[in-house]
Amino acid sequence: MGDCNTNNILKLLFSYMPKIAEERKMDGLLILMADLGRSLVGADRCSLWLVDEQKSELWTKVAHGVAELRIPSNLGFVGYTLNSGESLCIKDAYEDSRFDSRSDLKTNYHTKSVLTVPLKNSEGRIIGVFQAINKKEPPYYFSSQDIEYLSLTAVYSEKTIESALLTKELEETQAEILYMLGEVSEHRSKETADHVMRVAACCYKMACYFGLSEYEANQIRLAAPLHDLGKVGIPDAILQKTGKFTPEEYEVMKTHTVLGHHLLRNSSRKLLQLAAEMAIGHHEHWNGSGYPSGLSGEKIPLSSRICAVADVFDALMSTRCYKEAWSEDMVKDFFIKQRNSQFQKELVDILLSHWDEFIEIYK
Ligand code: C2E
Ligand code: SIN
Ligand code: SIN
Ligand code: FE
Ligand code: FE
Repeated sequence: MGDCNTNNILKLLFSYMPKIAEERKMDGLLILMADLGRSLVGADRCSLWLVDEQKSELWTKVAHGVAELRIPSNLGFVGYTLNSGESLCIKDAYEDSRFDSRSDLKTNYHTKSVLTVPLKNSEGRIIGVFQAINKKEPPYYFSSQDIEYLSLTAVYSEKTIESALLTKELEETQAEILYMLGEVSEHRSKETADHVMRVAACCYKMACYFGLSEYEANQIRLAAPLHDLGKVGIPDAILQKTGKFTPEEYEVMKTHTVLGHHLLRNSSRKLLQLAAEMAIGHHEHWNGSGYPSGLSGEKIPLSSRICAVADVFDALMSTRCYKEAWSEDMVKDFFIKQRNSQFQKELVDILLSHWDEFIEIYK
């Protein structure tokens, strides 16, 4: 692990989420990706190089601190990664024969440590290279963890570019990025790594059967990964406790709902507003016995009512650090008992009458 602990990384990711959601232009989104990449790996500069096929050149689509640069596409570390598809992690550029120091001369800069990762499109073809230069903190060179972080931003950047080429809605790409960031956040507690995906899939299915439009159901699916965003603010000692909570610990844990809402509510993007609504409402109960507000019935937004069923279904079916997985029959009995008390009866009926399909998502 580099100089950032997991919590700082999460805070960083989440600080970028609203910005990513607000951005309306591809170029702006790519600059954000370069900024995010630079912060994640603690580099002085980050640049995104793209291939100009006609001229056999690489050019900087985004670069910190410099105007557009162009280099022959077989030159330097960037050229090496472009042609080999390999990531490079270099401690001292001037001691490596692959280094092309002309960019340094041109920009009056001293390159020391370098990290390069390829940008692959969905067909696996390399369309560019993401590069970080000069790790700012000791040991002043990048780690294998940094390669992973930069690869993550490379994936987002590629998606952004691809969506522009396919004239796909940028909003859809942003949603995908948020989805992936939500996933990253869930890796904090390893046992819930797939939780996010399954809850999203269950929410979508339930929303469709409830009669929402394809568009609305999809919005809920995309916002669902952020329902536990507020857990970033919960201390690890509580989040990862292997035993049962004390009442005090449970009270702290409950604040993840309000916290997630605070993190998301200021966005003007519809998708994030929906996520904010689900973050604060997913532990409310149909009969009013839930938290944080004790709302009941249809005062709880439908998105939250759906998320509540999906979330608990997944929690009960899974092993958690504090509980064993329940058997299918026990889970079914639980939902039958909570029909019309913890959960809206129509939603439980959907779960029960399409039981095998929901179990399928789970497997
Ligand atoms: P989670 O593990 O994903 O559980 C989500 C929700 O599923 C819970 O919300 C609860 O409504 C339901 N659930 C999970 N396990 C059980 C169970 O054994 N019995 C019943 N009746 N319901 C269950 P809740 O209780 O508000 O908890 C929210 C989150 O707080 C949980 O998410 C988990 O991360 C954490 N948590 C809750 N209780 C404990 C605990 O005793 N120890 C630890 N370490 N974490 C806990
Ligand atoms: C290189 O990667 O060796 C040249 C590109 C640069 O850092 O400006
Ligand atoms: C989870 O671990 O993601 C579920 C916990 C919750 O819903 O609060
Ligand atoms: Fe939750
Ligand atoms: Fe959850």
